[in-house]
Amino acid sequence: MRCTALLFLALPLAAQHADKSEPKKSHPAIGDSRAIAAGKARFATSCAACHGPAGEGGRGPNLHERGAWHPLDEEALFQTIRNGIPGADMPPTRLPDNQLWEIAAFVRSLTAPAIETTPAGDIAAGEAVFWGKGECGACHRILGRGGLLGPDLSNIGAQRSVDKIREAIVDPDADGFRGYRGAKAVLKDGRVITGVARNYTNYAVQIVDEQGKIHLLETADLRELQLSRRSPMPGDYKQRLSPRELTDVIAYLSRQSARPLPPAAKEP
Ligand code: HEC
Ligand code: HEC
Repeated sequence: MRCTALLFLALPLAAQHADKSEPKKSHPAIGDSRAIAAGKARFATSCAACHGPAGEGGRGPNLHERGAWHPLDEEALFQTIRNGIPGADMPPTRLPDNQLWEIAAFVRSLTAPAIETTPAGDIAAGEAVFWGKGECGACHRILGRGGLLGPDLSNIGAQRSVDKIREAIVDPDADGFRGYRGAKAVLKDGRVITGVARNYTNYAVQIVDEQGKIHLLETADLRELQLSRRSPMPGDYKQRLSPRELTDVIAYLSRQSARPLPPAAKEP
């Protein structure tokens, strides 16, 4: 009796274990920053005419939006690039396999979370820029340290691709700003509160100030409310940071993940 009960328990556990101990093997080009850079150059000549210079789409689909095309596993992606899509408008690509893999690595990098790629920059130098010269820590929090005006970045490497992290830094207004609008409220009693507006309704607005304090303000008490059309994140980092510093800070952020690194992407 006892034995069968134990067996029932043991089976699903064993199955789970087997899943974890056999991670899918990945082609060495996938996630490798040098292969991705080489693939990007080949993409420009072989693919950009249809998929746009940065893969943003045109005659062929946008390759950044996972939702717009069902993301293929890497072998299927490789075969699609090699053979094209017969019957559709996508031609085969006649290049040696290693070059095709570089292109596949580039296409994959457009959607893969940053943590799954080898970063191009210096992580420790990027950490210093983040908390020092860049003053990113004034608004962003990582593992409990830092400011509260912007989103917590403790898991950003698992949430966004390297490209999206770069875009968020050099062009904060590029893809909207998901509920973070700069706000300035003037109350009827003369007080002025500035920060970021959250949860705005006709009756009330919450403003988080630079100290992270939340002010719940009723519209009836306001003399004036200005909501910015731009992200509160500074838009001039492309000028303020050198290309090297930018690459390093992206490398640092790409390592921020609540989950451990997948085996294929571990540093040597
Ligand atoms: C002549 C235009 C053209 C060129 C050149 C081209 N594509 Fe495409 N591609 C398309 C079209 C059109 C589709 C959508 C086909 C469909 O309807 O499934 C597509 C689909 C894709 C898909 C999605 C496949 C899927 O099944 O979801 C990927 C990935 C892709 N292309 C990558 C590339 C890469 C990488 C290159 C360069 C080596 C390239 N394409 C060159 C037109 C092109
Ligand atoms: C004045 C406050 C402020 C400073 C300084 C600041 N940010 Fe931001 N950041 C924000 C806000 C607010 C958002 C959310 C709105 C948006 O996406 O633009 C944001 C968004 C981001 C995102 C996107 C987060 C996501 O979930 O997609 C990244 C990445 C980021 N910041 C990195 C940085 C880095 C790196 C620096 C320093 C070089 C920096 N920020 C400096 C306020 C700031």
